[in-house]
Amino acid sequence: MDIKFVKRDVLKEKPDQKNLGFGKYMTDYMFEIDWIRGEGWVNPRIVPYGPIEMDPAAVVLHYAQETFEGLKAYRTKDGTIQLFRPEMNARRMQRSNERLCMPSLDEETFVEAIKALVNVEKDWVPSEEGTSLYIRPVVFANESALGVHMANEFKFVIMCCPVGAYYPEGINPIKILVEDELVRAVKGGTGFTKCGGNYAASILGQVKAEKMGCTQVLWLDGVERKYVEEVGTMNIMFKIDGEIYTAPIDGTVLPGVTRDSMLQILKEWGYKIHEEHVAIDDIMKAGHEGRLEEVFGTGTAAVISPVGELVYKDDSVTINDFKIGELTQKLYDELTGIQWGKLEDRFGWTQTI
Ligand code: COI
Repeated sequence: MDIKFVKRDVLKEKPDQKNLGFGKYMTDYMFEIDWIRGEGWVNPRIVPYGPIEMDPAAVVLHYAQETFEGLKAYRTKDGTIQLFRPEMNARRMQRSNERLCMPSLDEETFVEAIKALVNVEKDWVPSEEGTSLYIRPVVFANESALGVHMANEFKFVIMCCPVGAYYPEGINPIKILVEDELVRAVKGGTGFTKCGGNYAASILGQVKAEKMGCTQVLWLDGVERKYVEEVGTMNIMFKIDGEIYTAPIDGTVLPGVTRDSMLQILKEWGYKIHEEHVAIDDIMKAGHEGRLEEVFGTGTAAVISPVGELVYKDDSVTINDFKIGELTQKLYDELTGIQWGKLEDRFGWTQTI
């Protein structure tokens, strides 16, 4: 791909690496490419980061034809920069886009675009413990048209921002509200895609959770509101009687890259994994009987987030005395060890820029 480069006159000042938070500081440049029916993907370019001009009748603003991805670049101790399983994001975006009738970049071009942008933004990849460069690709229908149909014009953009922990709690346990009224996804819908609409529909639950002093929402299945599915920004796993339980990837749950990586590590360590539908009643019961040993969320932004308390209707259970569990900590150390190049990458997950 022949990527045009438009240099900016003045580079931005870089933020303090100790106070990055999540998604607050965008870097100097972004990658853009357009899709036009009949022509395909055209005009790849890296340009100064800034506002995009858009017609108020753009399809995305009305009918939410949009998907996005999230991955990270890590600075290793010898200063090199590596990506973590970017091909998984490329493939997931292709599946999301198929569902939303949107065109996708092929896997090679997707990864090439990310590498080209990160290469330009090398100095933005932070080196402070626990930090990385978050990479956010997004594709949206850019055609101006008010009829509901597959659009004829799309724009794909990649932006980057140096980040620390997603939650203010960092790797300390969070409290989660189990949502028993609103639902996130049903089979045949868009639950397995990373489309903005899924997140828009989750915000009311998030507001409710925050009012109750919780950090996140745990969604139940959309039909019976009985089985655990995923958390607002993460997949979720439960360690009960020494075995691992997590919802299967069968249409309603996001196929998380971190989820998949954790499961591979857990399998290698000999854990019995149940990718199956588990009723929230059984989880709460296990909690009251002292068999719910650890609960943790997994996601690119969140990495691994221990859950210290589950609130469900009038009931609540505290997990591991609201302390990070031994396995949760071990998984965090293992995964981030590979990502930051401290441990050997025996799975072949990382790609050097
Ligand atoms: C990610 O983990 O990359 C996500 O996309 C979650 C996000 C909604 C904060």
